[in-house]
Amino acid sequence: MSDHITIMNEKTGRIVMLAVDHGYFQGPTSGLEGPGKTIEPLLPWCDAVSPTKGVFLRCMPAGTKTPVILRASGGNAIVYSDPVELERELSIRASGVADEAAREAMRERIADEIVNRELSNEAVTVSAAEAARLGVAGVSVSVYVGARYQKESILNLARMSDEGRREGLIVLGITAVGKEMTRDARYLGLATRIAAEHGADVVKTYYCEGFEQVVRGCFAPIVIAGGRKVPEREALAFCRRAIDEGAVGVDMGRNIFQSAHPVAMIRAVRSVVHDDLSPDAAYEMFEDLSAVPLTE
Ligand code: 5RP
Repeated sequence: MSDHITIMNEKTGRIVMLAVDHGYFQGPTSGLEGPGKTIEPLLPWCDAVSPTKGVFLRCMPAGTKTPVILRASGGNAIVYSDPVELERELSIRASGVADEAAREAMRERIADEIVNRELSNEAVTVSAAEAARLGVAGVSVSVYVGARYQKESILNLARMSDEGRREGLIVLGITAVGKEMTRDARYLGLATRIAAEHGADVVKTYYCEGFEQVVRGCFAPIVIAGGRKVPEREALAFCRRAIDEGAVGVDMGRNIFQSAHPVAMIRAVRSVVHDDLSPDAAYEMFEDLSAVPLTE
């Protein structure tokens, strides 16, 4: 492990990071409508937090001491940005389709495809020098392996690794997945290794069947994202499996802040990561904490 990775918990060598960067391409996100309000009660329970520049500058609770890994790639959104391409594709594919409803359904499908392709068209949005000036511990950059802008996104990470190193920043490589990409061990193994090869100090990916194979193939430490919100018991179970199979921690968002009891959930996740609790014991902890009115 690179010796400048200073964000791991000193006792366990693992990490619980709170991901609050979702708005950078999806805008208002359930649970993050007021990012500051969401983040504040969770901060005592995380080892690091990963916001966007906007959230970091405007919404972080005053006096936050928790290390920050700043989202540093972006530049796209979940709406299609090229209506000309959309109409062109529609006229090609729907040439024999007279039915208005069928054409509309096709338009939506094509728009979806275009969004998925274009989301990979990211650039670096915060320079390493600016991130260092802001006093953050590190930056995160997504790579879109297998997507249209694969090369550009990998080069974003490679350059950030060069520049980040000069500024003493930790660089987190994120293996972004589009709707059309299978989250299996083969694909995530490829994407995580490519991120490590291009200089990521830590790689963020998803848990999948055969996760050990992903970890074995990647010489950089791996943290998992949570993905879409699932029941708490399920999220705690895949956290446990990820740690048992070699992840060094989590960088988790929706499964924490979209829980009806975010503080109880982050504490339960923390107990899986740092105290090696079983999923059942962690879920019991979640339920006990959920029953207690919040005083934090
Ligand atoms: C996108 C991301 C997300 O914005 C986020 O950090 C993922 O967190 P979660 O899946 O746990 O909500 O990394 O590439």
